[in-house]
Amino acid sequence: MKYLSLILSVLLLVCIFCSCASGENESAQNMPNENTLNEVSSQQKNDETSKTNENTPDNNKKILVAYFSATNNTKGVAEKIADYLNADIYSITPETPYTDADLDYNTDCRANKEQNDDSARPKISGSAENMEQYDVIFIGYPIWWGQAPKIMYTFLESYDFNGKTIIPFCTSGSSPIGSSAENMHSLADGANWLEGRRFSGGASDDEVSEWVSSLELK
Ligand SMILES: Cc1cc2nc3c(=O)[nH]c(=O)nc-3n(C[C@H](O)[C@H](O)[C@H](O)COP(=O)(O)O)c2cc1C
Repeated sequence: MKYLSLILSVLLLVCIFCSCASGENESAQNMPNENTLNEVSSQQKNDETSKTNENTPDNNKKILVAYFSATNNTKGVAEKIADYLNADIYSITPETPYTDADLDYNTDCRANKEQNDDSARPKISGSAENMEQYDVIFIGYPIWWGQAPKIMYTFLESYDFNGKTIIPFCTSGSSPIGSSAENMHSLADGANWLEGRRFSGGASDDEVSEWVSSLELK
């Protein structure tokens, strides 16, 4: 009898010990292991990254409106674009200004000569500051004989536009933008060229802002 109660006591102790040990295992199973923790924290990091991306909309893009204008029509449109977007503006100013005679396209004027000369690159006075800071660059010009004035070619060859978005616009008497923008692509072929837009010299605020807002830059 003494032996029997001793055996029972030992069995009872063994049972108690086993149940404690299995409880520990259970809670260990419920603990996230190191790998799970890493997964969770990298998931959190991903969530944070996507939040940051969501909070980095296009309106953080730095925008420049660069234009050449011989008789101020393109200047007017450029200013409307810059006002609407609160963008920086840069006037591409010829080192030698165009006189009325230079622009008299019914004669053998300077502008006509330049347009007929593939190698013409009229010099620009000064330069745009910190071009590298801009993500988006509007480039504006008047149509001269269906094309952009050669000073625009000088401008495009003066900076590195790789990775930037270029949005052309022009003013004209009646001609469309035509091939004028496409013919400048090779001068900045690392840029993302968007489709351009032609305006009349007296384009209204609404006309300009409707176009700019359709680009969804802000
Ligand atoms: C040399 C020269 C050539 C021009 N060629 C054209 C043309 O091919 N088609 C057109 O519609 N207007 C033509 N124009 C008119 C200009 O494109 C128009 O007046 C433009 O709005 C002028 O812009 P700006 O004031 O910014 O210089 C020409 C003007 C000049 C001076």
